[in-house]
Amino acid sequence: MEVISKLFVLTLLSCVIDIKTDNPCAPKQFPQRESVVCVCNATYCDDFIREAPEEGSYVTYTSSKDGMRFKKEVRSFQNNDEQKSGHCHDSLEIDPSTTYQSVEGFGSAVTDAAGINWKSLDPALQYEMIKSYFSEEGLEYNMVRVPIGGTDFSTHPYAYNELPEDDINLTNYTLAPEDYQLKFPMLHQILNVSAESVHIVATTWSPPPWMKTNDDYSGYSRLKKEYYQTYADYHMKFIEKYEAEDIPIWAITTTNEPVNGVFNLASFNTLGWTAKELGNWILNYLGPTLRNSTYDNVKILTCDDQRYSIPFFFNILINEYPEAINYIDGIAVHFYGDKIIPASVLDIATKNHPDKFILATEACEGTMPWEEDVSLGSWSRANSYISDIIEDLNHHVVGWIDWNMCLNTQGGPNWVSNFVDSPIIISDDKQEFYKQPMFYAMGHFSKFIPRGSIRVKVKENGSNCHSSIQHVAFLTPRNTTVVVLANRGDQRSVKVTCQGDTVALDMSEHSIVTVEFVTKNEFNNDNSLEVTD
Ligand SMILES: *[C@@H]1O[C@H](CO)[C@@H](O)[C@H](O)[C@H]1NC(C)=O
Ligand SMILES: *[C@@H]1O[C@H](CO)[C@@H](O)[C@H](O)[C@H]1NC(C)=O
Ligand SMILES: *[C@@H]1O[C@H](CO)[C@@H](O)[C@H](O)[C@H]1NC(C)=O
Ligand SMILES: *[C@@H]1O[C@H](CO)[C@@H](O)[C@H](O)[C@H]1NC(C)=O
Ligand SMILES: *[C@@H]1O[C@H](CO)[C@@H](O)[C@H](O)[C@H]1NC(C)=O
Ligand SMILES: *[C@@H]1O[C@H](CO)[C@@H](O)[C@H](O)[C@H]1NC(C)=O
Ligand SMILES: *[C@@H]1O[C@H](CO)[C@@H](O)[C@H](O)[C@H]1NC(C)=O
Repeated sequence: MEVISKLFVLTLLSCVIDIKTDNPCAPKQFPQRESVVCVCNATYCDDFIREAPEEGSYVTYTSSKDGMRFKKEVRSFQNNDEQKSGHCHDSLEIDPSTTYQSVEGFGSAVTDAAGINWKSLDPALQYEMIKSYFSEEGLEYNMVRVPIGGTDFSTHPYAYNELPEDDINLTNYTLAPEDYQLKFPMLHQILNVSAESVHIVATTWSPPPWMKTNDDYSGYSRLKKEYYQTYADYHMKFIEKYEAEDIPIWAITTTNEPVNGVFNLASFNTLGWTAKELGNWILNYLGPTLRNSTYDNVKILTCDDQRYSIPFFFNILINEYPEAINYIDGIAVHFYGDKIIPASVLDIATKNHPDKFILATEACEGTMPWEEDVSLGSWSRANSYISDIIEDLNHHVVGWIDWNMCLNTQGGPNWVSNFVDSPIIISDDKQEFYKQPMFYAMGHFSKFIPRGSIRVKVKENGSNCHSSIQHVAFLTPRNTTVVVLANRGDQRSVKVTCQGDTVALDMSEHSIVTVEFVTKNEFNNDNSLEVTD
């Protein structure tokens, strides 16, 4: 067990000394699993704080398949050029003068299933989970996705104002027991614990069946024409009700995975939209309604579907209703299929619409029929998250929101048995929860790349290996430079240079490292720079 001490010396009027110790992972290895999970119970949970780097040195955090979890080390920059021979080495150079997108954040979803699992825990353990995700001792998440009504990760399908039917003015719009009993308590604790403001993205899966052509929650469907305004109002009422509970909504998406209901691709709650129909709804109903309301700052994100929805949906929508773009703040993309749909679609969208952002709004592992739903200790699944996050960030995506915040060991509850994995799994006896390798994968980004960080260019300056490591770098509002490096292969050495300073790392096989150091002011000798002391 490794205990790392932290020393702050604040020289104001007097010296204040504060020693903060990380609680290390309490590992548990399940038989025949690739890696360990970290166990939290009512009296113990691992945590860790970020060590603010000092000039002349850098801080590294390492997690690996062989069991390291956020192993923290402080080292001095190396200024010689020696490179160990004998195994793989890569050389990277950060170019802080070439900048790209600004980061919005990282987070996960408060579904009914997450709420049910969370509520099943002792209150002390509930608090540990929220702290693990949102506090400064945890992953410092700053985004949440919340469903408007039910999803497949509910115990039954539902929407608001199901009765009376054909109620065009939504006279009976009340929230559900799930909002009051599950989502509100969880969201209130999240907002309480989080150091930074949490941006909440709200999404409808299906409106009440009476608004739909098939009068059902799933299957082939469209919104009935006479309810286009009603469906816009349906979103406004949700925003009002949540605001009334002090839960501000930052963005809404224009319906979850609209393609599902067009081709009957899903057994769960859906609403089908063709690109043309959705363009009409955004331009003539949702857009004007939202922008003429008290909540005119709430962002509108469209697509909210797989990457292919950019060429095959978004582009058609804008072609059919060019003015709809004025109401759209961004494009939301989902993770499923990223391994076959090239990230270049993200570059093209950014090139065509440089003032719109792209946000990844849903991801989970264990979705394929041949895959295990929950795999306790899977490093491959952590790797899949890491690869996708790095790829997305390198293609202009501004943030990455995971799916269910926690699930049971079956991967549910889910009313259509669409069980999947989650970074936190609750034990069957509800006495503990397991932090999966995916949890740490998320943290290598979320904790060190705060909102407002700017991505910068990384140049690959040679490698003697077959494949290069994956990498992404940012300048942060903490005035630091953060580089995330992922090694999917054997042990290798990596040299990262930035403005004359060299970080030299030995990366163990199947590991991820986040490096942070103070950003040198590149305009140091510039007369226009104001020096205040
Ligand atoms: C909680 O976890 C800690 C650390 O693993 C362990 O020492 C302790 O026995 C556990 N408590 C219970 C009640 O299982
Ligand atoms: C209003 O909705 C509730 C359920 O939320 C339902 O029990 C009630 O019957 C509805 N009222 C009318 C007039 O349909
Ligand atoms: C809905 O509200 C509008 C505006 O207040 C009103 O004119 C209309 O009659 C209402 N429709 C129904 C079916 O109640
Ligand atoms: C928020 O934090 C305060 C102070 O720590 C605490 O008294 C309060 O109960 C918390 N509220 C929720 C909803 O967690
Ligand atoms: C507000 O509503 C009016 C009329 O309903 C419409 O003409 C106008 O475009 C709307 N404003 C915005 C910003 O959408
Ligand atoms: C890039 O690689 C070349 C050749 O290996 C080396 O001479 C040079 O120092 C490297 N530059 C940096 C910034 O690492
Ligand atoms: C970053 O540097 C700027 C300019 O020197 C300064 O105003 C700001 O307070 C610094 N931010 C932090 C978090 O230290």
